[in-house]
Amino acid sequence: MPGLPLDAPRTDALRRAADHIADAWTSFDHARDGQPLLDDALARVLAGGLPEQPTSVLTALDDAAQALDESLAPARPRYFAFVGSSGLEVGVLADALASAYDVNLATHAGVADLVERQALDWVGRFIGFPASGGAFTSGGMISNLTALTAAREMALPAIRDTGYAGRAAALYCSAEAHYSVRRAAEVLGIGAAFVRAVPIDGARRMIAAEAAAAIDRDVADGITPIAVVATAGTTLTGAVDPIAELADVCVPRRVWLHVDGAYGLPAAAAPTTRGLFAGLERADSVVVDAHKWLYLPKACGVVLVRERSALERAFVHDEAYMLHGEDELNAVDRTLEYSRPFRALKLWLAFRVHGAAAFRDAIADNVALARRLADAVRAQPELELVVPEPQLSTVPFRHVPPGIDDLDGHNLALVEALQHDSRVYVSSAEIDGLVCLRPCIVNYRTTAEDVDALIEVTLELGRELAGATRTS
Ligand SMILES: Cc1ncc(COP(=O)(O)O)c(C=O)c1O
Repeated sequence: MPGLPLDAPRTDALRRAADHIADAWTSFDHARDGQPLLDDALARVLAGGLPEQPTSVLTALDDAAQALDESLAPARPRYFAFVGSSGLEVGVLADALASAYDVNLATHAGVADLVERQALDWVGRFIGFPASGGAFTSGGMISNLTALTAAREMALPAIRDTGYAGRAAALYCSAEAHYSVRRAAEVLGIGAAFVRAVPIDGARRMIAAEAAAAIDRDVADGITPIAVVATAGTTLTGAVDPIAELADVCVPRRVWLHVDGAYGLPAAAAPTTRGLFAGLERADSVVVDAHKWLYLPKACGVVLVRERSALERAFVHDEAYMLHGEDELNAVDRTLEYSRPFRALKLWLAFRVHGAAAFRDAIADNVALARRLADAVRAQPELELVVPEPQLSTVPFRHVPPGIDDLDGHNLALVEALQHDSRVYVSSAEIDGLVCLRPCIVNYRTTAEDVDALIEVTLELGRELAGATRTS
C-alpha cells in the first residue's frame, strides 16, 4: 500500500475509534462525579517533540481518546457554561463520512452541492425564514461577517472595488450584541467606533425607536447606515430583540436588517418560544449556529439571505484557474471562505434521521428546563435571578447569602470553586455591574436532575465559601 499506511488493518483502527466513540456516548448519557486531570503517562506524551518514528495507530488512538476524556466536553449533560453544544451522535457519524471523502464545497462538488442546498432550505423552513440562498460556515462569527459584507455592498455599491473613499458608515445593534458584530465592523473597515450600541429596554431588548433615532442622526450627518443587527438570543441573557419593530424601522429607510440568531434562532421553531421571533421573515439575512442549539458538532454555522444575489454581489469573482460563466457560479462566489468542508452533511443527516419535530421538542424541553431552573432560584431565598424573566434558555442568577458584603467577589469565587469541583460546569458573567453565574441549557442530554444538581452544588459550595468568608 503506497504512501502512509496504517500499522494495523483499517477495520481494527475503525473498530478502535468506534469503541472510543461509543464509550464517550455512554459516558455522556449521565453526569459523572468530576473531571479527571491530566495523568502522568499522557503528560509525558504531551511533553514530547515532533515524532520522527511512528507510534502504533491503536496506541495513538487510545492516547487521543484519553486526552479527550480529560478535556472539557460541552456534550456532557452538566456543562452549563457559555453557549454549549451536544455533539449529536448522527452528526459525529456525518463528520467521519464527510472527512473520509474530503469533498470541497468551494467549487463544483457534484451531488454534495445539492445536499448543501437542500439542507439550507430545510434550515430556512425550520426557523421560518424565506431564504433564497446562503451557505454553511464555521460559525456565527464568520456568518455575521458574511451577511454584513453583503449588507455593506448593498448600502455602498461597488465598495469592494472602490473602498470607502472618504465615506463613513455605521452598524446598529443592541448594547448587548455579540462581539462578532464589532469584529465585523473592524474587519469591514466600518470601524468599531461606528457600531451604534442602541439602548435596551427592561427586558434587555434593543429599543426600536432608539435604533431609528440613531439611524436618522447618522443619515443627517452624512453617515451611511449599513445594517441593523437584531440579536435573536443575546449571549449574555438570551434576550430576543423585537424583530418586527426593527423591520418597521429598516424597511422605510431601506436599511438592511440582519438577525444574529447564532444561539437563539432555533427556538423560533418551538411553539412555546416562536412568538418572540415575530417578523423574522422580513429580515434580509439571518444567522443560526447548528453547532449550538441544533445540537450538532462544531463547526456548523449557517447564514441565509432573502436575496441570493446580495451574496453574489459581495463575493463573486473570476480567477484564471476557476472560470465560470454568468449562470454557473461556484459556492466561493457566494461565501467568504474558499476551501469549505461538507458541513451541510451533518445537518442533512440529522434532520433525516430524527425528523424536524424531534428538534422542536428537544428545544422546547431545554426551554422548560430553563423555566424549572428559574423557578428553583425564585424559591430559594439565598439565590436571586439577575434577569427576572429569562426568555430562552439562559438563566443568570447569583448566590446572595446573608452576611456577605462583597457579593460580586463571592460569586466570582463561587464560579471558580464550581469549575474546580467540576460536578457541574458553569461560567460567570457581569450584568448591570452584578457578577453572576450564567447557566445556558442547549444540550439535549440535560435533564431535570441535572438542573437540580446545579442548584444543589451551587448552594453547597456557596455556603462553604460564605462560611469561610464570615469566619475569616
Ligand atoms: C449571538 C451570538 N452571535 C455570534 C456568536 C459567535 O458564534 P461562533 O462562536 O460560532 O463563531 C455567538 C457565540 O456564542 C453568539 O452567541
